[in-house]
Amino acid sequence: MTTKTVDRHIDTAHAGPLGDPQSTVLQPYDLLIPLPIGLPEATCREGVEQLNQLLADTVTLRDMYKKHHWQVQGPTFYELHLLFDKHAGEQTVCIDSIAERVQTLGGVSLAMGGDIAETTRIPRPPRGREAVAAQIARLLHAHEIVLTEARTMARRAAERGDDGTNDLIVSDVIRANETEVWFLAEHLVETSPVSAGP
Ligand SMILES: [Fe+2]
Repeated sequence: MTTKTVDRHIDTAHAGPLGDPQSTVLQPYDLLIPLPIGLPEATCREGVEQLNQLLADTVTLRDMYKKHHWQVQGPTFYELHLLFDKHAGEQTVCIDSIAERVQTLGGVSLAMGGDIAETTRIPRPPRGREAVAAQIARLLHAHEIVLTEARTMARRAAERGDDGTNDLIVSDVIRANETEVWFLAEHLVETSPVSAGP
């Protein structure tokens, strides 16, 4: 009696979506398909463009928090390990809101790491492990990039009558980022009221 063997070889060189990958693209990235939400197409188009920039920078900031969550070391390891993960979770909430706003405006949200890396304005950190002070400084710089562009985008959204985008950026993105900056920046204060002399 002969026994059949299962060929488990997978041809990864030719792995991909079923059929022609191009045929699976229902909406090209640059194509806007407006929904009936009472906003002009030009308004939606500008919103999509700005929100995808904000999305790329927010994903990068979230990933930077995860990097530091894993790599942090020193006497404040436990506290920062938890804080960095909390902020990463809050940024993930922002990411989902921004991406879904892009789709609501009729656009296509950025999603994959390669596209995020090509788009973000936040400088790429080294692969290696950095000291706590450098981690925090890098995060504060990334927050400032996000906050600066978010305020400009929120004002533009209000000017063009896109109240939903304005509200999302102000109420969710700006407020979350400002609070996270506060929690981070307090770690850089070296003066102790106990040791401070007259
Ligand atoms: Fe973790």
